[in-house]
Amino acid sequence: MGKHAVQILKLDTDKLILMLNEALAEEWLAYYQYWIGARVMEGPMRSEVEPELLLHADEELAHAELVANRILQLVGTPLLNPNQWTKFSKCAYEEPIDSYVEAILNQNLKGERCAIQRYQDIAEFTNGKDHATYQMAVQIMNDELEHEEDIEAWLNDLARMKEDFAKLRM
Ligand SMILES: [Fe+2]
Ligand SMILES: [Fe+2]
Repeated sequence: MGKHAVQILKLDTDKLILMLNEALAEEWLAYYQYWIGARVMEGPMRSEVEPELLLHADEELAHAELVANRILQLVGTPLLNPNQWTKFSKCAYEEPIDSYVEAILNQNLKGERCAIQRYQDIAEFTNGKDHATYQMAVQIMNDELEHEEDIEAWLNDLARMKEDFAKLRM
């Protein structure tokens, strides 16, 4: 994007670039949360859930790319050092100390809900003022909504499995 195109945006571009850098940090941390969680995970449905979590991880990385490209178009600087990720991210990174599949999924669910809020905020900030960023935020938010649904479905399956198992033992 050229300088004029940035000037015509009817919003505070510094604030927008900050929000986008926060989102960039969150995407990288979400990527790693999925990637490492998928590897240490243990318990029922592991073999089914693991490749899906790795797919989510890839999608978070694709989001990071979209966000970084948009920052560059806005003549901003994407975060240059990974040690900035935890400082900029508003979504907590949670170490998967408990490797049980349900614990991992719950961590990922919290991350998705935080991501949905992030893109909701960016969409609200840019709506009617910066169409390109708005479109990107909605596109990414749709992926995050799907991720949330996927995780909720696995958690429901696990809960169901536990209930059936409890009944058998009665
Ligand atoms: Fe994402
Ligand atoms: Fe996601």
